[in-house]
Amino acid sequence: MRLAARALGWSAGARSIVEDVSLTIEPGETFGLVGPNGSGKSTLLRLLAGLAPRPRGRVQLDDRPLTALSRREVAQRIAFVEQIADTPEALSVRDVVELGRTPWLSALAPFSPGDAAIVDEALQAVGMGRMAAQAWATLSGGERQRVQIARALAQRPRLLILDEPTNHLDIHHQLALLRLVGRLPVTVVLALHDLNQAMGCDRLGVMEGGRMVACGPPSEVLTPERLTAIFRVRATALRDPADGATVLRYHCLEEEPR
Ligand SMILES: Nc1ncnc2c1ncn2[C@@H]1O[C@H](COP(=O)(O)OP(=O)(O)O)[C@@H](O)[C@H]1O
Ligand SMILES: [Mg+2]
Repeated sequence: MRLAARALGWSAGARSIVEDVSLTIEPGETFGLVGPNGSGKSTLLRLLAGLAPRPRGRVQLDDRPLTALSRREVAQRIAFVEQIADTPEALSVRDVVELGRTPWLSALAPFSPGDAAIVDEALQAVGMGRMAAQAWATLSGGERQRVQIARALAQRPRLLILDEPTNHLDIHHQLALLRLVGRLPVTVVLALHDLNQAMGCDRLGVMEGGRMVACGPPSEVLTPERLTAIFRVRATALRDPADGATVLRYHCLEEEPR
């Protein structure tokens, strides 16, 4: 699904948090958002998902404005995993993932074996199949994160929005998740902290002070100059001899020995 945002903005009181962001994300593309803490990544994701109150600008999904869709129609198209998901504590892992099917159910289409198969597949995709019966309240942070991602997958969205999905995950599950979302045949927009992981996206948008100050292929966007100006680090690009990939190593500018 093509996502087109025009002149998006959002303010908290008099303070502008996101200002004049326009971008188009093509069907099947994996688009990464990077930027320092507080640069507006989470707010922009909420704007793209239609979840920010009193937004400025507009969001178009294929040829329909987001505001013209009902909540159910939005939920059939967009799945959003926020940084901190609000989940009823009493549920099991499987119950949480089943919530992802809600937008597809109705009196005429109750939960079916087809829905159960989709839930199983989503649990397996994040490696939580064997923990389906465990209580949500007893999960570790990384397990919770993976269950929320399974819920989003079970929703079978055409646009998947993930806010720092690799936080709390061990390195295996970080890489497995990024590989999984990269292979999904849907449009993915995700905020990432790890710039090396961001290198794997098709395109990156760099946020600074609520504005998207750069947008393009990762290697063009994450230049040493920009890393210094925006992230306040000196970056050295190293080459992995195994596959020729570029790996960034950082030095904090303020703490550099003279
Ligand atoms: N509801 C809100 N009210 C006031 N300030 C907010 C609100 N939401 C976000 N902010 C502020 O907006 C800025 C950007 O926040 P956020 O989008 O969460 O940034 P990021 O995800 O890049 O760290 C931060 O300074 C944050 O404190
Ligand atoms: Mg954030």
